[in-house]
This record gives sequence, structure tokens and C-alpha cells, in this order.
Amino acid sequence: MSKVSFIGAGNVGATCAQYVAEKDVADVVLVDIPIKLEGDDEPMRIADGKALDLACAGSVRGFNVNVTGVSADPDGDGHEYEAIADSDVVVVTAGVPRKPGMSRDDLVAINQKIIAGIAGRIKTHAPGSVVITVTNPLDAMVYVMQRETGFPRERCIGQAGVLDTARFRAFLAWEIGCARTQIQAMVLGGHGDQMVPLTSTATASGVLVKDLIEKSKLDAIVERTRKGGGEIVALLRRGSAFYAPAAATAEMVESILLDQNKILPSCVQLCGEYGLDGLPFGAPCKLGRGGLKEILEVPLSADEKALLAKSADAVRDSLAAVM
Ligand code: APR
Repeated sequence: MSKVSFIGAGNVGATCAQYVAEKDVADVVLVDIPIKLEGDDEPMRIADGKALDLACAGSVRGFNVNVTGVSADPDGDGHEYEAIADSDVVVVTAGVPRKPGMSRDDLVAINQKIIAGIAGRIKTHAPGSVVITVTNPLDAMVYVMQRETGFPRERCIGQAGVLDTARFRAFLAWEIGCARTQIQAMVLGGHGDQMVPLTSTATASGVLVKDLIEKSKLDAIVERTRKGGGEIVALLRRGSAFYAPAAATAEMVESILLDQNKILPSCVQLCGEYGLDGLPFGAPCKLGRGGLKEILEVPLSADEKALLAKSADAVRDSLAAVM
């Protein structure tokens, strides 16, 4: 049986674990930290609690894979991470999410330390795994993960593009009045306000959306896509989006586990593709067994090329904080 481990069993991690467990194709391991609440004798052990709860849900939801949870002291010897041994995929969502008014980059100092610690554990206990990092600021955290694990880019991938594209697809579908699943589109570049929703090639069931939506409305949809995460943070107030991030990550996990070769916009280190070198950046990636199989260079309009260059500058700026 394949195995998928989730480091961070908060909103995104646990929801993604649920989506993956429901596929019934891989055992699931949840890892989080024990949290001592003031006045409590026993620490909160959300990984253990959610794993037990999710496993019991299988009786009704129709899955039989093993679901286990461990609480791992980040300052301990890491022995709890033996639970992730032989993982095919490790999904990392551990960290602190955005609060209202915070940019993804505000999180960098806190999450960098967490990711570096976890990278060391993965290197020791699951050295052959494909790592999908979800923690923000995404591009910088993928950079830290790759540096600290030493994994090749094929096995060190970041989730952002599938999520950003999910939002783009929903907004386009609502404008056109068609099913969200009929929109084929892609958002490339960094996972920040400079991300690049491709308008030249997006289609609704094969019909170019730029022929269906007037330019000012399309521009507004692009802008809403870029700010989509912030729109949800402003509504939730105490956390950030998790259903769509979890669904997006689960699609990547499934494509890798089942060798589906789906072309999914993902953050990987570019080595010359799109004229960029040594930069983690959202590009169309074929994902299958072993992780990244190919980066596709798709035709872009002159505007899109210019926007990608701006997005690359923003990613370079965000990397400066972790170098
Ligand atoms: N090891 C394991 N888990 C950790 C560690 C660590 N060193 N540090 C923090 N965590 C756990 C927290 O205890 C928490 O349960 O990571 C979990 C994060 O979950 P949430 O706070 O619910 O955050 P979530 O909404 O899931 O977002 C996680 O994904 O989309 C991004 O911006 C988002 O960076 C954030 C990440």
C-alpha cells in the first residue's frame, strides 16, 4: 500500500488527508506538534485525535486505508517521525497561517524555521519521498525545503498554481454562467499578488474565454484571482482558506500516486525554462510517479510574458529573506 504523510494536521493538512483517505489508495499519516494549553495538564494532540476520527469516518465513507497520527515535539530527537518512513508523498502544511492584514511574506521568518526543521526529519525518515510544500510564503518555503532536504527538483514541489487556478476557474465560470469544471485554465508564476492568470489560452469547454467575456470584466476576474486568498482571510478573520488549498494539493498527490501524468501548474525550481534559472516558480508541470516528470513551456502572449517577468522579480525579492 502506498503511503502519504501530512506534516501539519491543521485546516489544510487534515482536510487534504480526508480527501486523500477517501480515495482509498494510500495509508495516511498525520503529524503535528503537541500543544500545551494554559491550565491543561495534558497537551492537545490534534494529529492523534484527527487521525482516529478520520479512520472511524472510513466505516461510513467507504475507505479502509490505515490512518494514524503522531504528535512530534519539534525540539525533540524526532523519533516520532519514524511513522513517515517509506512515504511515497509527504505533504507539508505545518506553519502559521495568515491573519487579516498580513501578507504571505510576513510569515516568512516563523515558517522558515519550521520548514527547515521538518525538512531535516523528512531527509532522515522519508529520503525517497516526493515532498509537496503548501506552507506560505510558498515560493520561499519550497526554496528552503529543497535546500534543507537536498532533494532534486523532481521531488520537491510546491502547491499554489492548482489552487490559484481553481479560483480563476470558479470566477470565470460564474461570469460565463457555466460549470466550473468546464473551465480549462492555468495560473503561473509566484504565489503572490503578481501571479499570472493566463487569459490568452483559458477556455470554457474549448471556447476561448476572452471571446466570451469583455476585457474589463476579464481584468477584474484576474485581479480577484490574485487577491482570492486575501478575500477569504478577510472573511474568516481567524485563519485562511483550506477547502480549495486541500483539494488542490490532493489532486497533485493523486496524480503522483496513481501516475496520472496530469499537467498541473506547480512550483518547482526552474533551470532555464521560461528564461529563469534557479528560481522556484509556478509552471505547467506533468506530475506522475516520482514527482515532476516534465515542465511544459506553453505559448504566452507578450503581455503574459511581461507579467511573468514581474512575478519572477517578486519571487526573487521574497527569496532574499531566506537566503
Ligand atoms: N511540526 C508539525 N506541525 C506543525 C509545526 C511543526 N514544527 N509547527 C506548526 N505545526 C502545525 C500547527 O500546530 C497547525 O496544526 O501546523 C498546523 C497548521 O495548521 P493551521 O494553523 O490550521 O493552518 P492551515 O490553515 O492549515 O494553513 C497551513 O498552508 O495555505 C497555507 O498559508 C497557509 O502556511 C499556511 C499553511
